Amino acid sequence: MSKPKVIISRKWPEPVEAQLKELYDVQLNESDEAMTVEQMQDALRNCDAFCPTVTDPVNAAVLGADGITAKMIGSYGVGYNHIDLKAAEAAGLIVSNTPEVLTDCTADIAMGLLLSAARRIGEGERHLRNGEWTGWRPTHMIATKVTGKTLGCIGFGRIAQAMAQRAHFGFDMKIIFSDPYPPSQEVMDRFGAVHMSAEEVLAQADFVSLHCPGGESTYHLINEERIKMMKPTAILVNSARGDVVDNQALISALKNGTIAGAGLDVFEGEPKLDPGFLDCENAVLLPHLGSASLETRIAMGERVLENLAAFFAGETPRDKLV
Ligand code: DGY
Repeated sequence: MSKPKVIISRKWPEPVEAQLKELYDVQLNESDEAMTVEQMQDALRNCDAFCPTVTDPVNAAVLGADGITAKMIGSYGVGYNHIDLKAAEAAGLIVSNTPEVLTDCTADIAMGLLLSAARRIGEGERHLRNGEWTGWRPTHMIATKVTGKTLGCIGFGRIAQAMAQRAHFGFDMKIIFSDPYPPSQEVMDRFGAVHMSAEEVLAQADFVSLHCPGGESTYHLINEERIKMMKPTAILVNSARGDVVDNQALISALKNGTIAGAGLDVFEGEPKLDPGFLDCENAVLLPHLGSASLETRIAMGERVLENLAAFFAGETPRDKLV
């Protein structure tokens, strides 16, 4: 029996590419260049399963192509705002993602951003590398303390809970959160977490960490008005999706001192960075590294493989979205 045809949109870690080669008639992307709309349409016409990642916009234009043969989209990543699920369903495609396996690494990056922004770690390193350090003194590069402060999470799913675990047990932080679908009382009790409105979280938190999904419902949720609700000493952390934050509103707030700082792993319009951020010494900027550990990137690939295997065995993939 011939092997199912699978097309992969970007380069994956070697151990999972080796498994793909063994199991499928696979088309890898050695050059690792992003696919165009036409290339994605061709892929969908020439395979049984297409595996995009979170930076491939599998939108209505892509999914509206004639002659689609693919039956499954096994996306590499947990977020799925890059896929038009309704259009995929209408085209008769099953879609899956890769939850759980990247929870810890993403929470580690969020906590790292919080600590870096609070304690001026990036700024301090630049200062030293630039040869500007003249020695220890009581008023040099004063920052803000983290231990014992209040962490406010916007969204309280798996990654936020992993962040709360680090903040509460590691740094004795009080946890408050907003979420339209709060977890069970048992989960909240684990961190002593208090559920409230997003506006209350913004007003009370010393650190606001975003953990909501991207897409229409959260587009520019953090805008000028909501940033003004934050304490002037507060720090915003975004390891979720860039377009949850209005770039211009945040850049102005960082420059005007409306808030004290930000730690950002994702950006509206990424990978193009609004140059305004580069002038903000009080912002820590990372190139979307949340899940970027070798162990996690392999686990993400293996999770796609698990979903593909279930699909080709005639079963429902564990992470089926539609
Ligand atoms: C995701 O998976 O959604 C992250 O943004 C990248 O790992």
